[in-house]
Amino acid sequence: MRILAIESSCDETAAAVVADGRRALSSVVASQDAHHAATGGVVPEVAARQHLRALLPVVRRALSDAECGWDDLDAIAATAGPGLPGALVVGFNAARGLAYARGLPLIPVDHIEGHVCANWLGEAEPPLPALALVVSGGHTELLLMAEHGRFRRLGGTRDDAAGEAFDKVARLLGLGYPGGPPLSALARTAQRRTLRLPRAWLRGSDDFSFSGLKTAVLHATQAPNAPPAAEIAWAFEQAVADVLSLKAARAAEREGVSALLLAGGVAANGCLRALARERCALPVFIPPPALCTDNAAMIGAAAFRHLDAACDPAAPLEVYSTAARGGLRLGMR
Ligand code: KG4
Ligand code: ZN
Repeated sequence: MRILAIESSCDETAAAVVADGRRALSSVVASQDAHHAATGGVVPEVAARQHLRALLPVVRRALSDAECGWDDLDAIAATAGPGLPGALVVGFNAARGLAYARGLPLIPVDHIEGHVCANWLGEAEPPLPALALVVSGGHTELLLMAEHGRFRRLGGTRDDAAGEAFDKVARLLGLGYPGGPPLSALARTAQRRTLRLPRAWLRGSDDFSFSGLKTAVLHATQAPNAPPAAEIAWAFEQAVADVLSLKAARAAEREGVSALLLAGGVAANGCLRALARERCALPVFIPPPALCTDNAAMIGAAAFRHLDAACDPAAPLEVYSTAARGGLRLGMR
């Protein structure tokens, strides 16, 4: 079963061919970072226009990298939500048109579920039930995954998403967009590692909060004897990774699941990866960094679990938003 998957929910135009929901035969990602660097964040209209430009070349490349022709495909999948509406529409309608032209079923996929399913693209298959920590630029969610398509949300951020906090703090420190990788690189150069920034534990709840930490960074940069940026970056990264890893590990043990799954762009963070593995007594699954940040292979992996939700590409739009019953918050929005 070969699925061509398309992802265009934010600022990455991506396509991939995935075999049996487990093997990425190709994964092509065209980043728009350069287009959003000047504004220090994604301008939705700019993102949508870039998707229009990049989409067909990226799809062609995904097919050729996988040495796959149109006749070798069994279905086409695309992210249906959540994400930037203008960006989603470009990828979804392209998938719809391609599926219609080729007479293939169309599988709408929830972006968050896609992130979680990136964990099925590795050698070992995660056991279920599992606890999933999805940490990206737009989301910070702690999800109890009973089986594919069956999720219960235990908690999430009350303010900024973890990746958003990385991006905003990076900006405060004069680093580029997206902020995670340069902030992490700067943190590695810190000479003194003693600065301690506050952690919002929100005890008794599975929620998170990063706005206080962000303010603490601002105050640290403005202090008369402000520490070097590298030391602030180090302390910030420690604080985020500390809270995320400990709360996820505790929740996993409390819920009696068989594994902890990390996913989303922030799961590419070395500090978080190491702390999660160190603190959780259960098997911990984390996709390789390239499958943590937005990509289409994860969408193909999730789509394989929702073959029963495949639609006729000529169906009216409403059909897609209700099709993947198991999805989390599926829908164009
Ligand atoms: O999953 P993703 O590619 O897109 C969304 O669905 O939002 O996540 C992007 C986010 C950005 O905020 C970026 O700064 C962050 O993930 N990120 C990182 C790292 N790589 C990407 N944050 C911390 N450390 C990293 N190495
Ligand atoms: Zn994402």
